[in-house]
Amino acid sequence: MILKNDLLLRAARGEAVERPPVWLMRQAGRILPQYRALRERLSGFKELVETPALAAEVTIQPVDELDVDAAIIFSDILVIPEAMGLPYDMIEKRGPLFPETIRSGSDIDKLVAGEDAAARLSYVYDALELTRKELDGRAPLIGFSGAPWTLLAYMVEGSGSKTFSRAKRMLYQEPALAHQLLGKITQTIIAYLHAKARHGAHLIQLFDSWAGILSPALYREFGAPYLRQICTAITEVPVTVFAKGAWFALEDIARMDCQVVGLDWNISPEEGRSRVGAEKVLQGNLDPCYLYADPEQIQAATQKMLDAFGGRHIANLGHGVYPDTPLDGVRAFVQTVKHYRYK
Ligand code: CP3
Repeated sequence: MILKNDLLLRAARGEAVERPPVWLMRQAGRILPQYRALRERLSGFKELVETPALAAEVTIQPVDELDVDAAIIFSDILVIPEAMGLPYDMIEKRGPLFPETIRSGSDIDKLVAGEDAAARLSYVYDALELTRKELDGRAPLIGFSGAPWTLLAYMVEGSGSKTFSRAKRMLYQEPALAHQLLGKITQTIIAYLHAKARHGAHLIQLFDSWAGILSPALYREFGAPYLRQICTAITEVPVTVFAKGAWFALEDIARMDCQVVGLDWNISPEEGRSRVGAEKVLQGNLDPCYLYADPEQIQAATQKMLDAFGGRHIANLGHGVYPDTPLDGVRAFVQTVKHYRYK
């Protein structure tokens, strides 16, 4: 099927485009009234994630409502730990919780990995296929995975945390165990992402949401090498690496076999470009809190950001959109990008 809007893919390949494509991390979710309405009728978050028809519906909502240039499959990074043998609960208003966590080498030995784990995620592949069909070429479909370090963080910590000190403790106290776990997670991610590409994802984004809590030395040892392995393995579609908070690792990430590098709002477009170098396409990076401002302010800030990136850019926020963001703010951001033209 031919894409009617392939701007994201042309931009990700580094082609000259008339304007940057625009989408928002976490666009499929609570900012939309139609998402909240659907969600209220269901038993919980996991029912949405695990029912392909519902996941497809929620994935397409922001394309209908906001006219963004990409859809991102409705799912979660935590489906991988679950497929490996560590189920998660999503607690209302609190976030994820793992009843069991990784404590020892024997816990790691028990985990399922690679193709065997990826084979348990057929509901994601079904959701991708259905979404592709229902999108009917209106926008490319992004698939994603958590990065190995971020997934280890949840599997060891057992929940969200400000410090992830239990997970970081493993890196210092038992580095060999951490490497063993990261290796198993990485093999699973690679099998999973090959399957996602096979079932219709046009581009893959890797979310290393907790990269920024590691020191540069820890990230060099436990973060970057595993991301690099994934980038090297996934050759069938473009790959975006978004390592939140890890401005110190951008030079390293720039040398990975990826096409796009995501930036958060802690770094300016100019400094991001100078650290990443000329070759890669950059994605980001407006502060999500800017969308609480007046539409005129949002328009001015967005134009300034687009001018600063200047090209080889995919417009997005510096992290996921917050659930209480006014839709008018989101629309002002998206429409400003859509009316922009490179000189
Ligand atoms: O981006 C999208 O619109 C696609 C869907 C998507 C979700 N999670 C749905 C979701 C994506 C890409 C994710 C990735 C994800 N999940 C990350 C990486 C991205 C990031 O924000 O850094 C992380 C760290 C998670 C883990 C996770 N899932 C947490 C910590 C939480 C609870 C906190 C929160 O933001 O609500 C979730 C739940 C979750 N995942 C929701 C959605 C829409 C909220 C569930 C609801 O209440 O309906």
